[in-house]
Parts: sequence; C-alpha cells; structure tokens
Amino acid sequence: MRVLGLESSCDETAAAVVEDGVRALSDVVASQHDVHRPYGGVVPELASRAHVVNVVPVLDQALAKAGVGLDGIDGIAVTYGPGLVGALLVAVQTAKALAWARGIPLVGVHHLEGHLSAIYLEPAAPPMPHLALIVSGGHTSLVRVDDHGVVVELGRTRDDAAGEAFDKGAKLLGLGYPGGAVIDRLAATGDPKAVAMPRAMTARANDDFSFSGLKTALLHHVRAHGVPEGQALADLCASYQAAIVEVLVRKTRRLARREGLTHVQVCGGVAANRGLRAGLAAAAAEDGFTLYVPPPARCTDNAAMIAAAGYYRLARGERADALLGATANLPLPRRAVDVAP
Ligand SMILES: Nc1ncnc2c1ncn2[C@@H]1O[C@H](COP(=O)(O)OP(=O)(O)OP(=O)(O)O)[C@@H](O)[C@H]1O
Ligand SMILES: [Mg+2]
Repeated sequence: MRVLGLESSCDETAAAVVEDGVRALSDVVASQHDVHRPYGGVVPELASRAHVVNVVPVLDQALAKAGVGLDGIDGIAVTYGPGLVGALLVAVQTAKALAWARGIPLVGVHHLEGHLSAIYLEPAAPPMPHLALIVSGGHTSLVRVDDHGVVVELGRTRDDAAGEAFDKGAKLLGLGYPGGAVIDRLAATGDPKAVAMPRAMTARANDDFSFSGLKTALLHHVRAHGVPEGQALADLCASYQAAIVEVLVRKTRRLARREGLTHVQVCGGVAANRGLRAGLAAAAAEDGFTLYVPPPARCTDNAAMIAAAGYYRLARGERADALLGATANLPLPRRAVDVAP
C-alpha cells in the first residue's frame, strides 16, 4: 500500500510517499526557518502563509521523486494536531481536497504518533511493547507504546519542552533560530562541568519533567556574566546541554527499568542531539536495553513519519471524513494513576 503523507503543523511543509509503512519512496521537506529567523521563533500567521505557498510544489515533488501519480496512491495520511491551527489547516484541507477529488481513503494522524513512527522506516525497529522518549520543539514525554497508535503517556513536561529549552537558551546566547543544533555543535568542544546548572524534578517517584527553571538559571548567568565568547561559550553550551540530557537519560532509564521494557526509542527533533544520543547509548549499554534512534533528518518534522503512522490506521480500515479538522491541543492518553516507584 502506497501512502501519501502530508505535514504542516509548525514551520515545515512536508510531503512523502511511503510503501507498506516501511519504505520511503520520497520524503520532501520545505523548511521555513528563514521566514521566522528574524523574529527568533515561529510567527504563526507567517507559517500559515508559507505553507499555502509551499504545499502544492512540495506535494508535486514528493510524487515526482516517488515516481507515482495520484493514481498510484492508495491512501492519504495528514497531521491534524497538535500544532498551530492555521498551519495545520493547510495540509488538512489539501489532503481532504485530494481525497475527495480522487476518491482516495484518508486518515488523520496525531503529530506525536508520527514522530513515534519515524523509526519504522529504519531496518531495525523496536518490537511492541516498548518505551519511547519523545523530545521535540513542543513536547517532552515518556510513553509506553503497546501497538501502532496505542500509547499511554507516563510522564511529560510540566512547563517547557526540551526543544524549547534548547531554542530559548540559544536565543538568549544570540545563537539564532532554531538554536538546538547550534548548542549541540558548540557543546561538542565544551566542558559540561564548567557551569553549574539545575537538574529539576529528579526525585525518585517522579516521571515528569520541568525545564523552565534551567532557562531561568541561564538567564541569571548571562545577566551576571554577560554572553561569553570562544571557549567559555562552548563551556556554557556544554553545561546547559548536559543539564537537559542528564535529566532525560536518568528518567528514561528509570522508567524502562520500572516498566520492565527492554526496548527504548527516542524521537522528535531533540533526538538529533549528539549528547542525548551518546547519553542514551551509554545507558543502554549499562542497563542492557536496546536503543532505537532515527537518523537526524527523520527526528525533526517530516511527512514520511506521518505516512508510516497513517499506514497502520488505513490498514485497520480507519477512515476520516470531510469533517476532519485541525486541532491545536491534542493531549496523548495519560495513565490514570501514577505508579508507585
Ligand atoms: N541537534 C539538536 N540538538 C538539540 N535540539 C535540536 C537539534 N536538532 C533539532 N533540535 C530541536 O528540535 C526541535 C524541532 O523538533 P521538531 O521538528 O520535532 O519540533 P516541532 O515539530 O516544532 O514540535 P512538536 O513535534 O512538539 O510539535 C527544535 O526545538 C530544535 O531546536
Ligand atoms: Mg515535530
């Protein structure tokens, strides 16, 4: 089954064709970073307008690269939330128009289910059940994945996402937008012990995260000492990154152990971070769990992951109708009672 995926939840317009949920025949992403860079963050109205401009060319490219026309597409999967509602609407309306005009089955995909499905495009994918650490621009969650599309959230951030902490930290240090990858690069040559940074909510029984205090700690440091340059900047980036990574790794390995899950995946834009990848790999070797990490380009937003997630829903016979809408706020199902440590 060939599925066309469409994604426009934030600042990437993306289209892809995926075969049987596992083979990406094409994967086209038009990033809007240049549009938003002067503002240091995503401007929702500008994002919507850029999606409108990009969506048809990106779709055409995805079909051309896959070597198929719409006649060769068996299903369409589109991100319907969570995200910026005006941005989401562009792919949702495009998908509905295509589905209606060509009589192609359509499903809506939760953006985070998309991130979780990026790993199924790789040769080695985690079996069910497994634990997943989702770390992206807007989310930081630990979820138990029981099947495709069957997840329960066990922990999440109470305030900022890890990606937001990276981006806001980078903005404070004048490193541009989006700054996560810049901090990653600078941190590689820095000393992670150079500057003391807080590790929040690391008490034993807690599976939630908090990163707003870390951001404030960086702000206080910059107010007191200014923005450093050269080696001192690398040291500060390394210290800041280490505080984020250490909390993510510590909570992931603790929950894997407690849930008895021996397969762990990490996904979302921050999963591209080299410090996090190395930290989780070291934990996997020590604790004996198997770690699965998508290649960096499939960590950040793309439509191949949406098509991969949509494949399983389409195969189960799920269909969206013309009433499919864009939903800004779409929480994952939570486990009702917190499990004692
Ligand atoms: N190498 C890296 N190190 C740290 N952070 C990174 C790296 N590469 C990308 N990021 C961060 O990943 C985030 C983008 O990820 P993604 O595209 O998944 O987020 P999003 O789609 O905006 O948010 P969400 O998926 O929660 O809706 C940004 O915050 C960016 O800074
Ligand atoms: Mg995303």
